[in-house]
Parts: sequence; C-alpha cells; structure tokens
Amino acid sequence: MNKSSNLSKRILDIEKSAIHEMTRLSKKFEDVAFLSWAKPTSGTPEFIRAAAMDAIKNGLVDGYSESLGILELREQIAKKLKNYNRIDSTPQQIIVTTGAIEGLAAGIMASIDPGDEVILPDPTYSTHIRQVILASGKPILVPVIEDEGFRLNIDEIRKAITSKTKAIMYCSPANPTGAVFTEKQLKELADLALEYNLIVITDEAYEYFTYDGYKHFSIGSIDEMRNRTISCFTFTKNYAMTGWRIGYLHANEDFIPHLNKAHIPFTICAPVVSQYAALAALKGPQKCIEDFRKHYFEARNLMCKRLDNLATVFSYQKPRGSYLMFPKILTNEGKDSAAFCKKLLRETRVSTTPGIAFGPSGESHMRLSFCVPLNMINKAFDRMDRYFS
Ligand SMILES: Cc1ncc(COP(=O)(O)O)c(C=O)c1O
Repeated sequence: MNKSSNLSKRILDIEKSAIHEMTRLSKKFEDVAFLSWAKPTSGTPEFIRAAAMDAIKNGLVDGYSESLGILELREQIAKKLKNYNRIDSTPQQIIVTTGAIEGLAAGIMASIDPGDEVILPDPTYSTHIRQVILASGKPILVPVIEDEGFRLNIDEIRKAITSKTKAIMYCSPANPTGAVFTEKQLKELADLALEYNLIVITDEAYEYFTYDGYKHFSIGSIDEMRNRTISCFTFTKNYAMTGWRIGYLHANEDFIPHLNKAHIPFTICAPVVSQYAALAALKGPQKCIEDFRKHYFEARNLMCKRLDNLATVFSYQKPRGSYLMFPKILTNEGKDSAAFCKKLLRETRVSTTPGIAFGPSGESHMRLSFCVPLNMINKAFDRMDRYFS
C-alpha cells in the first residue's frame, strides 16, 4: 500500500509545486541564471535590522505578544492604511500576521465551509488555490484577458457565480502576470460582490510596485465593501523582509474576533521580533521602497527589451506592476511549459517557472522575475539569444 494513502484527501489532492520542483532541479547545475525567484534579492535595510537587535537586547521579544499584534504596530499600520490605501482603520480592525500568507489563510478559513466555491483569476498565485483546497473549498478559476494586460474578466466572473460561491480572492499587482487591476475594474468587481453577497479577500503584497502611471487601488477603501473585504498586506516586498515572516490583515471590527480564531491556532501571534522590526520599518525613512521600485522599473524595461529580440519565441504583455512577467511561449515545444522550462534549464542553465504552475490558463507561458540584478537578466538573455538563434 502507498505509504501516504492514509493522509487527508485534501493534502493528497494538492499537486507537487512546479516552483519547488524547478528550484530542486536548478540546484543540480552550476552557475544558473535565476529568473525564477519571486523574492527581493536585496537585503533588509540596516535601520530595520538594528531595531530588531535593540528589541532583542531590551528583552522585548521573549514572550508572546497580544494575538492581534503589538498595539503600537497596529496604530502605525492604521495610519499607513489611511494614508496610502485610503482605508479608514483603527487598530481594532487589524491583525498582525505571519506574512501575508497567514493572513490569507485565516481569511479563507474564516470565510468558507467545506464545498464552498471561491472564484480566483486564472492564472493566479498558486498558494491561493492551495489555501482554498486546504480549507476544503473548491477553487473556481476564471481566465483573465491576456490581450488586455491580463485584466479581470468581469462578465465571466459573473457567469461563474453559483449558489455555492462564497468569496473572490485575487492579488493585484498580480503574481504571475504583472497585471494591475484598475480602480474601474475593481469597482465592477465590488458591484458583483455586493449583488451576490460575497466576501473579497485581497492579496496586496506588491502594492507599491506599479509602473507607467498605473496606480494600486484597494477594494477595501470602497465604503460599501467595508463589511465584506479582508485585505492582506506584507512587509516582505516593500522592505525586503522575506525571512522575517511579517504582514497584516484589515477587516471590519466584527470580523476580527472570528479571523483571530483562525489566526491563533496556526501561529498564536506573529513573530514578536519581526513585529518590532516592522514597527521600525513603518516609522523610519521610506526611501527603500522607492529605491526598489526604481530598480524594478529599470529591470522590467531591460527584460522587455531583451524579449523583443526573441520575438519569434516569446510574445508578452508589458507588466504594469509587481516584479514578475508572464511571456507566452510561441514555439511548439512551449505547449508543455513544464517540459519547456526544464529543457531551457538543462540546455542554457536559465531557471524560469513553468506557467502551468499558476492554473490551466498559464500553460504555454513561463514566469520571469525581474527582482534580480540587471546583470542576471543580461546573463540569462545572452544565453537564450545564443540558444534560440
Ligand atoms: C502574491 C503574493 N502574495 C504573498 C506572497 C508572500 O507573502 P509573505 O512573505 O508576506 O507571506 C508572495 C510571495 O512571493 C506573493 O507573490
């Protein structure tokens, strides 16, 4: 008998991550040019590290904090939500979470019962799909419109709604496509949520990284949506704090005690040392965010320019946000994106992520990450130029 056959169906239903598979394979080769990482490659700014050291030295981090997170941090977050996201907030509407991921998981756990349906754009961040499955829900994937910058297809979302639909979950700026859902699109989505009494769970991890005049919009800032939105944020991207595992969610005050019932059994409270680091991040100079944005903008432009030279192999939508893009593979081999990316790795030592990892509409695509040094982009494309010429 298969050793894992007595594990839960939920877990067995989840396929192995194509992303981790590529990471594992990449380790077999030397001198790989990585375009598959979706984490900032710069280090956490020094003033944030220093604040964490002070908190340790002063004995502030040896116990749990309040499960919602330390009050001073929630006060600072409330200010940021008001100033940047236009979400009127009090500390009582915030839970500090173990990264955005844990906030999203709590959001899903609190919103759905087994068998309930959650609508997600396709392609989307695969963790969202897995979180729905882990909560015994059913992910309903609605293809986005690639030719129009991978925008939401509101008509198709409407058609996908059934009596079992409980929630809509999305990230914007988007992983893997680089789409930015505009205020207009999100207002249309809000109208649907109101009409069908749905909860909206947002992942705003890349909120500061938009380009070409595209602006991030938080659906939770719409008055009528206040009672049905769970908005999730993180320090991971803005302050290069991937390993600190710190983020937060915002929801209406009535939801918070229920969300906390999902938060506590998984994490008790967010890492306390990281909460002090996050507090310093919000109170300190915000220059690092603009520095990261400038770098990603330059890197995006370089990646698009280099892709233009490979126009017979890839077509692409210019990313309007995040630090990811999702070119379409035009060759016959591209129809199987997993095989294509593995071969590319074997033959050119360029590591990319197969589009199929992000939902069925991701097939024939690959995800490229431009949160890497410019010379990494050039190295990868020099190799691909030689390979495809
Ligand atoms: C869309 C999206 N959400 C969330 C995360 C992870 O966020 P955190 O580190 O805050 O859990 C990522 C990381 O790549 C991401 O791309």
